[in-house]
Amino acid sequence: CGIVGYVGSDKAGDFLLSGLRRLEYRGYDSAGVAIHGGESFHITRAVGRIDALAGSLGQNPVDGPIGIGHTRWATHGPATVENAHPHVGGDGEVILVHNGVIENFQTLKNELVEKGYVFLSATDSEVVAHLIAEGLRVTPETPADPSQRCVQAVQWAIAQLRGTYGLVIAFREHPDMLIAARFGSPLVIGIGNGEYFVASDSSPLAGCTDRIVYMADHQLALLRREGFSVMHREQGKVNVQIQPLEAAEEAVSLQGYDHYMLKEIYEQPESLKNAMRGRLDEENATAVFGGLNLTPQQLRSVERIILTGCGTSWHSALVGEYLIEELARIPVSVEYASELRYRNPPIENNTLVFGITQSGETADTLAALRETKRKGHRTLALCNVVGSSIAQAADGGVYLHAGPEIGVASTKAYTSQCCVLAMLALYFGRIRHLSFEAGQNIIRDLQRAPGAVQEALNCNEHVKAVAEKYKDATNILYLGRQYNFPTALEGALKLKEISYVHAEGYPAAEMKHGPIALVDEQTPSVFIIPQGTTYDKVMANMEEVKARGGPIIAVASKDDPHINAVADDVIHIPDVPSIIQPIVSVVPLQLLSYHIALLRGCDVDKPRNLAKSVTVE
Ligand code: G6P
Repeated sequence: CGIVGYVGSDKAGDFLLSGLRRLEYRGYDSAGVAIHGGESFHITRAVGRIDALAGSLGQNPVDGPIGIGHTRWATHGPATVENAHPHVGGDGEVILVHNGVIENFQTLKNELVEKGYVFLSATDSEVVAHLIAEGLRVTPETPADPSQRCVQAVQWAIAQLRGTYGLVIAFREHPDMLIAARFGSPLVIGIGNGEYFVASDSSPLAGCTDRIVYMADHQLALLRREGFSVMHREQGKVNVQIQPLEAAEEAVSLQGYDHYMLKEIYEQPESLKNAMRGRLDEENATAVFGGLNLTPQQLRSVERIILTGCGTSWHSALVGEYLIEELARIPVSVEYASELRYRNPPIENNTLVFGITQSGETADTLAALRETKRKGHRTLALCNVVGSSIAQAADGGVYLHAGPEIGVASTKAYTSQCCVLAMLALYFGRIRHLSFEAGQNIIRDLQRAPGAVQEALNCNEHVKAVAEKYKDATNILYLGRQYNFPTALEGALKLKEISYVHAEGYPAAEMKHGPIALVDEQTPSVFIIPQGTTYDKVMANMEEVKARGGPIIAVASKDDPHINAVADDVIHIPDVPSIIQPIVSVVPLQLLSYHIALLRGCDVDKPRNLAKSVTVE
């Protein structure tokens, strides 16, 4: 879920709506705002996208100097108006928006129901609203500074919560202030001239202010037009660091593209350059990273690496496994973050744990890192969003510098992750056995990636035609080997995510042990078959599918002389060294899923049921 708040001039509504639009990547099944329209707070909520909310607001316009807003990804209770935020506590004295999950909500709810509180929704968030209202009831007035009573009521309430929360709270009796509270769900404060903004991340603030404060866990902020203060929820006032906000407004606009996903696919030559900028040290034939925070001693003693993440980031971890094992000869294991956090595997000393994440907010990845850190292992983040929760929680890390990724299906962040993992493999290899010459070759290979991706993008028109031909398939197999096995998984995930067509990624040779039973005239297989050591083997797997009548789409090197004889449709990519193949060969698959989704009338940037950033377990 995404939350926003504003206190300042008379135009809360503008910021709330534009801010929620930029936070839609965190969920978009329902949305709502509460805006003080002079006399009281008016709550407007709607099921569906922010456009639906904007439509409702258009019919009953309200604007004023203070307001809060929310866009939801349902956890407790379906996407209905009743379950949409803001929620109200007591008999209307507290109005709030919440991101996170309250684990003990049922116990708290039972107690509140006994005290006479009436619940109107199935959400865990409404419990917090009533609990703060109860907090107001048990807290004495503080006539000298009435806001203190509100702060105390919030402190009283959040002390009883188990789980995670980012909260922005408004008070009926004090329509000049907001209180924000954070534990486990991020919040950022934007400092304007006579106005303050609060949001789940910095993207809504681009164009509003360039000065921000990242709130830390356990902190509470009091925002008023005249000023703001941040306090630890038990230990009083804290001095915060005001940081510059660098996100440019154009980075979050469509710039002439029909969809963010397409824009982000086309940005990859540039985002790859940004991932490598200043990090390739040709003189020493290695990579350099500023933020790993590892001592030379720690670096040399690394005996094992764990790569963990979710979704697309888990796929780049698989690419990283091949790269690091091959170039650095360090054993790597790849773990789903959601499994790692509860599996409690034995982890040897001298193990590095990398959390890979575009958003830096994925709850499972954050929890997995915290859990391994608790056990004394060094945790590092490989992350795109600067200042995100995972970037803050890790001991060090590497930023992707891919720029904002807004389309729900990850594209440029994935290729940047693969690129950074290749640089890490080079880095670890060079402090071990890898020769100077081998290091130089790898640098040269990496430097070819942006140009090769640019060339691969030329296939767009042809991919569109291929998409037209196969758009009605209900099942598609994606097959590849070695470095391109993760590419097969990623291609299948892209298609599932945005076109709702069932797809399965498999190691090409493993296909004959099961999935081959699915092959028939209606079930196309996408083979990722660039030149390389396994080319002949994959070709043999392709023949096996062809022999059973399955249509074949091949992603192959541009000068492949044999492929046309076997495949029904061939998408050509440049012939590149194996370590950058995953970066190049995924590009046509991103485009294929994009065009199939468009042809099937799907909402490419905001597919059903998904959220870009899943901030709950
Ligand atoms: C969500 C998104 C996926 C993404 C995954 C991990 O499920 O829908 O596209 O790959 O989260 O996100 P992260 O931000 O941690 O890379």
